[in-house]
Amino acid sequence: MIEPGKYLNPEGIVHWKSPANIALIKYWGKYPEQLPMNPSLSFVLNNSVISIKIEYVIDKGKPMQLLGFQLNEKENPAFAEKINHYLDRLSQYFLFLKHAQLKISSKSTFPHSAGIASSAAAFSALALCICSMDEQIHDKKTPALEFFKKASFMARLGSGSACRSVFDGMVVWGFTNFMPGSADEYAIKLPGSMVHKTFSNIQDTILIASSETKKVSSSAGHALMHNHPYRENRKEQAFDNLKKITHALGEGNWKMFGEIIENEALSLHSLMMSSNPGYILMRPNTISMAEKIRSFRKDTGLNVYFTLDAGPNIHLIYPATQKEEVQNFVESELVPLCENQKWIDDQMGNGPEKI
Ligand code: DP6
Repeated sequence: MIEPGKYLNPEGIVHWKSPANIALIKYWGKYPEQLPMNPSLSFVLNNSVISIKIEYVIDKGKPMQLLGFQLNEKENPAFAEKINHYLDRLSQYFLFLKHAQLKISSKSTFPHSAGIASSAAAFSALALCICSMDEQIHDKKTPALEFFKKASFMARLGSGSACRSVFDGMVVWGFTNFMPGSADEYAIKLPGSMVHKTFSNIQDTILIASSETKKVSSSAGHALMHNHPYRENRKEQAFDNLKKITHALGEGNWKMFGEIIENEALSLHSLMMSSNPGYILMRPNTISMAEKIRSFRKDTGLNVYFTLDAGPNIHLIYPATQKEEVQNFVESELVPLCENQKWIDDQMGNGPEKI
């Protein structure tokens, strides 16, 4: 990235909102600079969104300074420190950041303490804001494809999975030789022609098994993959599952798709349990719900499958056409197993939006 050194608009405001995403093929294990050990696939959610507004002045006489950071109208020093660190990291690509005086405010639509990871939404929104600042400051317009590719690259440096939050539809991050354009440095959107229409409007009903803070963070979990005894097999499995799910998505094959996503979810948690030290993030009600979902599927023949991220909560994945039957099942059989009967109705969203 070339820095002209002249700031045409040294003062301004940028504002983006960006969603969380749910991985179907899991990113688990990484190399330095948040490069993934294996490719992953996800889609963004509609309702779990963070908006970030940055007011900035570039003053060449001063070093970078975060003058304030608010989350939902309250100062949040813990997150401010993370953001400071992140902006410092991005300043090697955007030299104007070295002299930026910034005021950041953010709003989250995430249900309070639902145990849903918000870092992908936060870092993607931040990365989009910084890329927009770059355009405004230098009075330039980047073609959309290039803009989102750059934003994805920058979001990755904040949190790996965040690089998948800047696109709508099905999104792949990580190089595989069977997917043209795929890369470890940024995510790409699967072309619409590769995804059967049965997967548009895909639903994600999130069943809260526990909203407690996890005992082992994702970053610590990734690190435990370094010396994991199943590391090489896991890599192979992820590449293989990605190849298969790509076929399932193209053919509109829900059964194959569903079997792969459940296999990925249970494999992820098996990797956690067989790490050294091993740990368990699923709760007893996670397992009870998973079993109920499998029985319901067997009894009704409906396309309803589950996935899990690095936590105990079930993400129920199914087509919009079955919403009524599935929601009846959710309310009668699964909600009683949720913590405080808490669940969230979500679905595939349209990706980030400039405000
Ligand atoms: C299980 O992206 O949160 O959700 O790169 O350390 O920030 P860092 O990790 P993070 O890991 C996400 C792990 C996962 C799977 C996935 O989203 O692909």
